[in-house]
Amino acid sequence: MTTIRAVARGCGHYLPARVVENAEFATTLDTSDEWIRARTGIERRHFAAEGESTSDLAIAAARAALADGGLTGADIDAIVLATATPDNTFPSTAVRVQTAIGMKAGFAFDIQAVCAGFVFALAQADALIRSGSAERVLVIGAETFSRILDFTDRATCVLFGDGAGALILERQEQTGTSGDRGLLATDLNSDGRYTDLLYVDGGPSTTGTAGVVRMAGQEIFKHAVIKLAQTGGAALAKAGLEKADVTWLVPHQANLRIMTMTAQKLGVPIERVVVTVQDHGNTSAASIPLALSVANSEGKLRRGDLVLMEAIGGGLAWGAAALRW
Ligand code: UT7
Repeated sequence: MTTIRAVARGCGHYLPARVVENAEFATTLDTSDEWIRARTGIERRHFAAEGESTSDLAIAAARAALADGGLTGADIDAIVLATATPDNTFPSTAVRVQTAIGMKAGFAFDIQAVCAGFVFALAQADALIRSGSAERVLVIGAETFSRILDFTDRATCVLFGDGAGALILERQEQTGTSGDRGLLATDLNSDGRYTDLLYVDGGPSTTGTAGVVRMAGQEIFKHAVIKLAQTGGAALAKAGLEKADVTWLVPHQANLRIMTMTAQKLGVPIERVVVTVQDHGNTSAASIPLALSVANSEGKLRRGDLVLMEAIGGGLAWGAAALRW
C-alpha cells in the first residue's frame, strides 16, 4: 500500500561572521577555556552582528537550502520556522523569509518549542504534507540567543550561540514500509511542571521586555539524558526500527557530555553521532538543522541513511524524529 511521505529535498545553513572563542569570556568573567571545554565540549560560537536579526540568518539558511535542492522560492508553498528569538513579537519571522525568498503564495508561520523547536517543526511539516495542505515545506530553525543572554552569568552566557539551518521536505509517494525515504516517525513531548528549570525572565505580557535566559543547568542535564534516550527510542519504535538501524544520530547540540551519554543509552557508537557543538555552542532551535547541514556538506549523509534527531529545551519540551535520507 502506498503512503505519502515528507522527503528531504535540500538543506542549508548560515552562521554569522563573528566567532567568539571561549577565551573571550575569561576577560570579563571568572571562567576559562578549560572549564567550558571540559564541562560542555564548546570551543567557540558565532554571534550575530549589530543589526543582524534572526530573519537575516533564516533567510540565508533558506537560500542555501533552496540552492542545495535546485529550487526557488516559487517552489515552496509553506514555511514552518522554529525560533524562541523572533525579530518582533509579531509578525512571525517566517513571513519575512517568505517575502525574501520570493514566495508570493502559500503560508508561513513560527512555532516555539525552544531547543526542541526544530523537531516540533518537522512534525508540523510532516502533518501539512500528509494532510495535503502543502506539497513542499521549508522547515527552518533560527536563533539569535546572544540577544537574550545575561553576560554577567557565567553559568549560561558561555553556552549559547547564533545561527540558522533549513531543511526542505517534499511530498512523495512511498511504499509505506520502514525502508521508505522521508520522515518515518516523530515523537513529541512537553511537561509544564518544569518551567522553572529553564526560562526567560521577561516577555510581552509580563515584564514588557525580552528578558534573559535563566537555567538550573544540573537539573536540565539529568532530565536531558533520560528524556532524550526515551524519545529517541520512541521515535524508532513508531517507525518500526531498531537502535541498530540508526546510521546517524543528529542530537541537539547543547553539551557534548549529554550527547555522549544519550548515544550510549541509544546504543549508537560515538563515531555515528554528528557533533558540531565545539564550533556552534547551543543554538537552540537551529542546532539540529545546522548539524544536519554541516554533515550533508561534508558528504556524510548518503541516500537511504537513517537519521535520528532528538532535542530537549525549555518547557520542558522534547522530542525526536526518524528520517530516512
Ligand atoms: O538547550 C537546552 C538544554 N540545556 C542543556 O542541556 C544544558 C544542561 N546543563 C549543562 O550542560 C551543565 O549543567 C552546565 C554546562 C550548564 C554546567 O555544568 P555542570 O557540570 O553541571 O556544572 P555545575 O552547574 O554543577 O557547576 C559546577 C561549578 C559551580 O561552582 P561551585 O558551586 O562548585 O563552586 C559553578 O558555579 O562550576 C561553576 N561554573 C563555572 N565555572 C567556570 C558554572 N559555570 C561556570 C563557568 N566557568 N562558565
